[in-house]
Amino acid sequence: NQNAFGMIGLGTMGSNLLQNIADHGYPCAGYDNSVDKVNALNHLNNQNIHGYSDLKEFTDSLKSPKTVMLLVPAGEIVDSVIKELLAVLDQGDIIIDGGNSHYTDTERRYKELEDKGLHFVGMGVSGGEEGARRGPSMMPGGDKEAYEIIKPILEKIAAHVNGEPTVGFMGDRSAGHFVKMVHNGIEYAIMQLISESYEIMKKGLQMDNSQIHEVYKKWNEGHLKSYLLEITTDIFTYKNEGENHLLLDSIRDEAKAKGTGKWTSQAAMDLHLPTPIIDIAVSMRDLSSLKELRVQASKIYPDVTEMQYQENKSDYLDKLEDAFYFAMVSAYAQGMHLLYQGNEEFKYNLNLDLIAKIWRGGCIIRSEFLEDIYAAFNKNPKLQHLLLDETVAESLTKSIPGIRTVVSDAVTHGISIPAFSAALSYFDDFRSENMPTNLIQAQRDYFGSHTYELKGKEGVFHTEWMDNSKN
Ligand code: 6PG
Repeated sequence: NQNAFGMIGLGTMGSNLLQNIADHGYPCAGYDNSVDKVNALNHLNNQNIHGYSDLKEFTDSLKSPKTVMLLVPAGEIVDSVIKELLAVLDQGDIIIDGGNSHYTDTERRYKELEDKGLHFVGMGVSGGEEGARRGPSMMPGGDKEAYEIIKPILEKIAAHVNGEPTVGFMGDRSAGHFVKMVHNGIEYAIMQLISESYEIMKKGLQMDNSQIHEVYKKWNEGHLKSYLLEITTDIFTYKNEGENHLLLDSIRDEAKAKGTGKWTSQAAMDLHLPTPIIDIAVSMRDLSSLKELRVQASKIYPDVTEMQYQENKSDYLDKLEDAFYFAMVSAYAQGMHLLYQGNEEFKYNLNLDLIAKIWRGGCIIRSEFLEDIYAAFNKNPKLQHLLLDETVAESLTKSIPGIRTVVSDAVTHGISIPAFSAALSYFDDFRSENMPTNLIQAQRDYFGSHTYELKGKEGVFHTEWMDNSKN
């Protein structure tokens, strides 16, 4: 029993992560109930990697305390694998769930395993297949004692930014999976914003793919630099062999989702914490899937007219860049706010600056701007909302004219930009001392005696509104 780490689930992510661990000199073991996958692992002929088709042999090959990580599809499979593991692991051993599990499942599993004397770590892993192989960003939470044991391996296999690993202990119980869920919510929001900017350039400004490519390339060289813009830039050059059009132009426009974006919105609503950019990103993927209805509607309602822009195109593209910056900052701000509120509610002991720090590399939402987020929370660990940070406020303010122009022009010309527009509306209410919601309170009281509160007066009040209407 010499293996330092065990992996259950030898899909691409599991296999890549094992190879990453092996590269750092750790002997490790892989198990899968598919013999083909075990064979594929053994055929890598990596001296440090050992594949097993028998669970007992797999766990027997591990050093104590045994560390077993699960990279299997979220849901019931995780529970059934844990059940099997209970028969072959001992008290003090460590189980890490590295999948995109729902944080409430992790909360339950953590307690169940704690009662049985096993350590459980719910760990978000981001960066996709390439990240797993070369350095992901990892968000472990749960058992701190267990984290200390696995920390040396995790720190080696993580991506590194300025020499520091993109992994850190997130907090108690299900903290790791809560943080990963919010990461994915932000991922959905930024992807939606990029696709809206594509729509503005394509339909509104009538730009061709190579011109759009140039814009994303330029954005990715400045303060918008991010992994998602980098891959977008690449996508705008990719052609299949023998074809002279972009692969992108052949791809159906119905977006799929595995659920983590929806979970983020659901959790946010449960916490009464507004994340409208994430919500709209989830809804637009769903709307994209209503293809047949969209086709019918497109025959009834006329298409967009070409956008008229007052300035020259290059000035307009500067405005679009500002608009994107504004909306991207707002998406991160809403996600960070949700982390703040989740922490208040679930008592995770999260450190928002640490989260921003480990998101700077390895993960899908890594970006230049995460440096600013890290700086803001590092300077003030009690910061409730990113938009209240002075430095962020200063740069955001500069981008306001851009977003106002782009949103109003797009709306006028029938170009759908719900995430840009949600970012701006959220902002306009967030910066308002007074919202028009006094009227909602009055209406609630009118039809349902739900009561209201008064300015400068303690207590709750109710009015028989109909009596007054008769006067
Ligand atoms: C990551 C990603 C990843 C996620 C995919 C697919 O951080 O590496 O968030 O975990 O599963 O992005 O998500 P959807 O299928 O829901 O788009």
